[in-house]
Parts: sequence; C-alpha cells; structure tokens
Amino acid sequence: MELKVPEGFGLGLRYSFAEDVLTSERSPRWFEIAPENWMGRGGFFKRVLHGVRERFPVVCHGLSLSIGSPDEPNYEFLKELKEFFREFEIGVYSEHLSFSSMEGDYLHDLFPLPFTEGMVKHVSEKIERVQDFLGMPLILENISYYYVPLKGMEEWEFINAILEESSAYMLLDVNNVYVNSVNHGYDPYEFIDRLPLDRVAYVHIAGHERGDRILIDTHGERVKEEVIKLLIYLLSKRPDLPVLLERDNNIPPYEELLEELEEIKGACDAQRVV
Ligand SMILES: [Fe+2]
Repeated sequence: MELKVPEGFGLGLRYSFAEDVLTSERSPRWFEIAPENWMGRGGFFKRVLHGVRERFPVVCHGLSLSIGSPDEPNYEFLKELKEFFREFEIGVYSEHLSFSSMEGDYLHDLFPLPFTEGMVKHVSEKIERVQDFLGMPLILENISYYYVPLKGMEEWEFINAILEESSAYMLLDVNNVYVNSVNHGYDPYEFIDRLPLDRVAYVHIAGHERGDRILIDTHGERVKEEVIKLLIYLLSKRPDLPVLLERDNNIPPYEELLEELEEIKGACDAQRVV
C-alpha cells in the first residue's frame, strides 16, 4: 500500500493554538493530530480542522487502536476512523506499538508489550486486518516504557520481527529511544543502527524530564540536546525523513513552538549529510 508522508518538519496540532494556525504568517510544513481528539465533534473543532486541512497536509497519530491487546480490532471505532479520514482527506495513520485496552475497557495509557515470538505473530496478524479494513498502511511507533512484561528478545529484535512479518511501517520516536536507552541501559545509536531504517515513515521528537532515578517521557518540555544529536545522527542515514515535533503538556504559544521547530531544523540542516 502506498504511503505519502508530507516532507520536512511538522508540528503536533493542539486545541490551544489551532485558531492561530489559520492567521499566522509562519507555519510548519505539516501538522499531526490525534484523531480521537477531533472525531465526532462539530462547531469550533470541525471549522478549525477544515481550515487547517485546507491550508496544510495533516497526518493522524492515534491513541486507542491498542494493536497488542488480545481483543479483536474494534471495528466500530475503525469505521468511525475511516469516515473521519474520508471527510478530511487524510492518508497517513500512525499508532503505537503497545496496548491500551483489554476486553473492551479502555485504560487511557500506552502499555508495553511482551517482547515475545507470540506477540510478534499476534501483532503482525492484527496489523494486516486493520490495514485491510482501513485500506491504508499502518505506521507503528516505538513507545517509551518503564518495564517490560516479558522479555524473550531485545526491543530492536521485536520491532524488526514485526516489520519483517507484517507490511507496516515504523514511526521512529527518537526521544523514546533516548529515554529508554538511559532507563534500560543501552546505546541509543546502536539501537538506531539495528533498525530497518528503510521502513521508517517518519520521526517524532519531544521533550522529557529527569526524575530522581530515571528519565520521564513528559512531552512537556523543549527537546533536549541529546535527543537533537540523536536526530541528527538518524538524518545522516536517512536525510529524507520527515520530522514531527510533539508537545502534549505544558503547551506554549504557537509562535514559541515554531521558534523551537526552526531551531531544531537549523541544527539538523547545519549537520545534514546530503
Ligand atoms: Fe511519539
């Protein structure tokens, strides 16, 4: 299935500045939204999203697919999602390599999957069913996690196995790689080297905080220097990769996010190996 992710640097769209996007003279190249935050809403939300969509490419990054849960895909939800994609002409859908529901109950968090052969098979089969239903490819993101329920293999082996067994693409979150590498004691550069980078569709960057003993993936801070360095390393291997800045908490004004995005882009351009 063909995949067309917009090029260049994009920004996660939030309610707090969505209207500013329609009037500002500056902008990122594209936006990402969580479809669950915009689906089934009229009035302000629908008007603003149509306005954004008329001006910019928009991709969707979902929260509740729960690809790793033992349940069947929620076809009612997928039907609504498909209708939403049709209305706003959205052709790119990413989700998380995690689970967030059990037997129909939604847990409102992203939980790590056991890194096992059985889970590789389960997720890979479910990916194909979701893709067939939606008629579009699925892009799955490496999440940040603080424990692993069962470790039959390393995370990079788990991701490789799923990408081998299924036709999904990967959303590579560089901040998540960095946070996990510190919390679980591995080299983030080697981790990136071990991934099938030709299957990466786009990249996430975000901020984290330093806790007492671990790094915490807050998405509420500016992107840290170490994460930008890792991004530059990744782009030296795949200079064409689109990059998306996520900010989910402690959201500053639109102009401030654009400044940060411009600085990150500048740092990457200065180092970019073309
Ligand atoms: Fe992310």
